[in-house]
Amino acid sequence: MKLVAKTLYGMEDVLIKELTELGAKNIEKGNRVVTYVGDKRLLYASNLWLRTAISVLLPIQNFRFRDEKDLYAQFAKINFSEYMKVNQTFAVKGAVNSKLFNHTGYPRLVLKDAIADHFRDKFDKRPSVDLEKPQILFDIHIEENQCTVSLNSSGAPLFQRGYRQGTGEAPINEVVAAGLIYLSGWDQKSNFIDVTCGSGTIPIEAALMANGIPPNIARKSYSFQYWYDYDQQLWEDIYSKAPNVPKRDLDFKIIGSDTDGDVILKARENIKALPLGKTISFEVKEFNDQVCPEGKGILICNPPYGERLQDEALFDLYRDLGNFFKRKMKGYDCWVISSNFDAFKNIELKPAKKIQVYNGSLSCDFRKYEIFEGSLVEHKYGEQNQRREPKRNKRS
Ligand SMILES: C[S@@+](CC[C@H](N)C(=O)[O-])C[C@H]1O[C@@H](n2cnc3c(N)ncnc32)[C@H](O)[C@@H]1O
Repeated sequence: MKLVAKTLYGMEDVLIKELTELGAKNIEKGNRVVTYVGDKRLLYASNLWLRTAISVLLPIQNFRFRDEKDLYAQFAKINFSEYMKVNQTFAVKGAVNSKLFNHTGYPRLVLKDAIADHFRDKFDKRPSVDLEKPQILFDIHIEENQCTVSLNSSGAPLFQRGYRQGTGEAPINEVVAAGLIYLSGWDQKSNFIDVTCGSGTIPIEAALMANGIPPNIARKSYSFQYWYDYDQQLWEDIYSKAPNVPKRDLDFKIIGSDTDGDVILKARENIKALPLGKTISFEVKEFNDQVCPEGKGILICNPPYGERLQDEALFDLYRDLGNFFKRKMKGYDCWVISSNFDAFKNIELKPAKKIQVYNGSLSCDFRKYEIFEGSLVEHKYGEQNQRREPKRNKRS
């Protein structure tokens, strides 16, 4: 089968790596998608195992069309009763990028009508639409006058992992969190720390990775389980072979801390649904008071971007973060994701790397600050501090 894994901007390469490890063949990179070839086992495994995919699609029809009328005519050629039963609920989602339509939602309505008409003509009855929790989810992708209709095997997006019980005000998407960890190059053998962890998404995704536990171990359902050809035995085989206990020999620390005690309670609730044991330690702590565990490691944090804080308070927070890196994170690589480019400047460290990513609709930078041990630190930041000293009169 030709399969399509959808992802987020900038995550295609890490998704390719994940797919290669899963055994996918003929992998090709697209724009926020990766296509590959695999069998039913790989389709099910993709849903359970891919940390950076949003959904996994099975294309069923691809065609060119002239106009709206022709689009309906092409949809009407699809034998929808091959893919769903009349008593199942369905929905249509997808992306439209075409000058042929004033409203991008219109083609979805055309497909919905074509499906309803198909069943009405055949069985004198039409299936119900359920936009919240459809059993069968169709996906359309239209690029000018080229259309692909697919079955979405995942149903609800794969970032709905099933472990999240509660969140703070601006939780990061689980797929973004996992993607950032991969992009950071964390070796999964050294300390991992998030000092603004909120409800714990980033450390939780890190702990799942380090323990080799699939990201969707706690998820209860997928759309492919409603398909005609669903092979329950195969799914149970894949699921039962997935590790579901923490490794005993993790000899490094994974720490999440946040100044807000309520979100730390939520983080602790969130790990209850996961077989992570005591892998993560969640602490109520102002980041300035955090002490980095000895040895090497990495810090990834997602501080506030400034929707609620006034500029000055936000700039102070980023300045404090930079000072905290310099004072307390020696030997660590510190990564920060933020959409606030002015706030970034207040970290007052030169980023060793900048990667553009999206957190929801926000274009963000994911920046790396290498904090060297000992004299290198003084040397590097000493230089910066000198630059900021007031200019002296040459003659004095
Ligand atoms: C954007 S949220 C992080 C969301 C988190 N990644 C999640 O998935 O839930 C930013 C967090 O920074 C925390 N924070 C703000 N100032 C802090 C400080 N000085 N020390 C520690 N945490 C702080 C807030 O309490 C908030 O939970």
